[in-house]
Amino acid sequence: MIRPLTQAELEAEGVALGRSLPPGTLLTFEGELGAGKTTFIKAIARGLGVAAATSPTYALVHRYRARRGPVFHLDCFRLRAPDEAADLDWEGLLGEGDAILVEWPERAGAWLPQPARRFRLHHLPDADRRGLEIV
Ligand SMILES: Nc1ncnc2c1ncn2[C@@H]1O[C@H](COP(=O)(O)OP(=O)(O)OP(=O)(O)O)[C@@H](O)[C@H]1O
Ligand SMILES: [Mg+2]
Repeated sequence: MIRPLTQAELEAEGVALGRSLPPGTLLTFEGELGAGKTTFIKAIARGLGVAAATSPTYALVHRYRARRGPVFHLDCFRLRAPDEAADLDWEGLLGEGDAILVEWPERAGAWLPQPARRFRLHHLPDADRRGLEIV
């Protein structure tokens, strides 16, 4: 099911999800450029207690301080080849992270651990709305 949501609705959904996540949860976010992955992830981070998600955009791994522990936001768009994902300390991220939020998971290939849930964001004909799908 693809639910069409305004940005405010998508963010409210993200905050609520962030508030309800068990510790150590890995979530992935697929979708085309500009589909709303980062917007959704930042809202989830806010729900986890991240004050401001303002890390530099060139980093592959963004680390935010949240209530229960660090939240990691991985933007795998930065990976040039899936094998670069082998260099990431996945065990460490899963062991330490309150949440691990992975954008462009398809770029990490088989190195990506099994996510608890996979989301996909969709562009829609209505430019003010994005489709949120749980894959
Ligand atoms: N309903 C909506 N939900 C989410 N974003 C929206 C919505 N309507 C408009 N937008 C805008 O669309 C843009 C989405 O950008 P965002 O960085 O979240 O996408 P992305 O999927 O992370 O892209 P990229 O693949 O380039 O990282 C933002 O500028 C946001 O303000
Ligand atoms: Mg993004």
